[in-house]
Amino acid sequence: MIIPAIEITKLGKSFGSGRKRNQALHDLTLTIAQGEVFGFLGPNGAGKSTTIKLLLRFLKPDSGSLCILGKTVGQEEFRHRIGYLSEFPFFYDHLTARETLLLSGRLSSMPRQAIDQRMPMLLERMDLTEAADRRVGGFSKGMKQRLGMANALIHDPEVLIFDEPMSGLDPVGRHQIKGLIAELKQEGKTIFFSSHILSDIEALCDRIGVINKGVLLYSGGLGDFLDAGGGLEERFVSVIEEANHAGA
Ligand SMILES: Nc1ncnc2c1ncn2[C@@H]1O[C@H](COP(=O)(O)OP(=O)(O)OP(=O)(O)O)[C@@H](O)[C@H]1O
Ligand SMILES: [Mg+2]
Repeated sequence: MIIPAIEITKLGKSFGSGRKRNQALHDLTLTIAQGEVFGFLGPNGAGKSTTIKLLLRFLKPDSGSLCILGKTVGQEEFRHRIGYLSEFPFFYDHLTARETLLLSGRLSSMPRQAIDQRMPMLLERMDLTEAADRRVGGFSKGMKQRLGMANALIHDPEVLIFDEPMSGLDPVGRHQIKGLIAELKQEGKTIFFSSHILSDIEALCDRIGVINKGVLLYSGGLGDFLDAGGGLEERFVSVIEEANHAGA
């Protein structure tokens, strides 16, 4: 049997306590196969970033389990197999792009030689060769996003987790990131990403998950989701409204 890339089982997470307790995730169960591009959709505050932070073990779950490539998250060293782009990527402004990638590579325990070998290809692929020796503090939003992608890929991980990789980008920037995701899929990588941009989800994903108020409303093929009628936007809005109405 082929091991799933990501397996989330009955995941529960709350923030705060007492009357201020907020149940961010309710028994979330989700499986993502190896080599798949999976889009995670949901309105603001639905629990997408929380799920992703739990996968990276930046947060601890209250209940349930998370496995990446068959290894339990938290029990085994797994981060070297994952590339991660945060919703709000952080950079040291005084470092150059090249120094930033060197730091990321070192933090992923890569030997210097391996980093030096991979660096030119990654800079080229992210259209950052000319800016490689400029300080990141002066980078535009799109350049920072591309550098964030390069950071996520420096150690050549098998599973890529991107939290809103296209957010805030102009059409050219979005096109570049979309092209990159398509290329990564061709290379056999697994890509799990959240996005609000439904047309991008439609263009890229094999399967999608729809989450609302911490509850998974749908997971499966994009075609099956759309078969119920309407375009993705219409269908997404009606599923969320239906769930909100039922829960109200
Ligand atoms: N560190 C935290 N402390 C308290 N509450 C939190 C924390 N992180 C998330 N939450 C709450 O958990 C819920 C889910 O938030 P999350 O950031 O996962 O949503 P999201 O789907 O990523 O939304 P967006 O599309 O706006 O990025 C929200 O109600 C949020 O307020
Ligand atoms: Mg988020």
